[in-house]
Amino acid sequence: MRRESVSVIDGRIELRSDTMTQPNARMREAMSGAAVGDDVCGEDPTINALEEKAARVSGKEAALFVASGTMGNLVSLLAQTRPGQEIIAEENCHILSHECGGYARLGGLTASPVPSRRGVMDPAMVESRIREDDIHQPRTAVICIENTHNEAGGAVVPLGNLRELRALADTRGLRIHMDGARIFNAAAALGVSVDKIAEFVDSVTFCLSKGLGAPVGAIVAGSASFIEEARRVRKLVGGGMRQAGVLAAAGLIALDGVRDRLERDHRNATRLAECVREIRGLRLDPDDVQTNMVYVDVSALGISASGFAQECASRLVNLLPVGPTRIRMVTHQDVDDAEVPLAASIFADLAETIMASTR
Ligand SMILES: Cc1ncc(COP(=O)(O)O)c(C=O)c1O
Repeated sequence: MRRESVSVIDGRIELRSDTMTQPNARMREAMSGAAVGDDVCGEDPTINALEEKAARVSGKEAALFVASGTMGNLVSLLAQTRPGQEIIAEENCHILSHECGGYARLGGLTASPVPSRRGVMDPAMVESRIREDDIHQPRTAVICIENTHNEAGGAVVPLGNLRELRALADTRGLRIHMDGARIFNAAAALGVSVDKIAEFVDSVTFCLSKGLGAPVGAIVAGSASFIEEARRVRKLVGGGMRQAGVLAAAGLIALDGVRDRLERDHRNATRLAECVREIRGLRLDPDDVQTNMVYVDVSALGISASGFAQECASRLVNLLPVGPTRIRMVTHQDVDDAEVPLAASIFADLAETIMASTR
């Protein structure tokens, strides 16, 4: 497959993250010609068009363009809570572990982390974390769900689980926020449109700059009144971006033809997992690969994850060490179909070399 990207860095196979995607030629062209205005005053026509399209795609009344997924989650939580309240969130989710504790530092929120099975929380466990109406306790306000779940290997939260959590939230008067940074991957894996997932939540964040391939930006979507408040909070955290239509122009293109592109990425992840499974010294369960992520354990090689990643980098394949012996690989638009077996053959040679040197 021909690369559409204008510049792919020095011919490397880039498997660290789908955040590494390069804006393609169509995006760059649209960016240079974008009509812009002052978005803080609501006058950027390209941002307005993106927000309308994003609201339509997610089946919500309104949407807001924000600088990043982290900002989208923060704005969503701050717009739906008051300081001193509590969120219930899956224990390894991005909001709790990779967003500098913004919910606590900027939102004054406490968190009740819930263990899960591959990112899927048991509704009974979530229910057990809802606080009683007791003057000693914080009030529970929001349940946070991550879909797909990054740390759980790009795992998808099934619709049935979302339905149960929605029913629970309705019964107990709670809101639900979905960190849907990769909700399009979840939708592709489930074979449904994004709105069929988002219908179970009050607010959703999704990233334009991951598998969708835009250089910058994320979307927050929800009811019109929620977005009105989110717009105010975005300003509070310094996210009013003025003539940012040049960025939204790429986002509009990123929303076209998503399904086909992500299905290809998912097929490539499955192929990569099947190849890696055959390599002695590398361990993974191909059944764990549900979307575009492949997590591999290198402990049987007697090398650290960062050592293995360094060796691969010197062979022009970039991987992400995410634990002492755990490596992450992510397929995306800039990973050609032909690069999948190529990367796997590089891993196989390297694993053989490492094993031969320790024999
Ligand atoms: C699940 C999840 N949520 C949120 C984010 C934050 O996105 P950003 O890097 O745009 O702030 C990421 C980024 O990798 C993520 O994986």
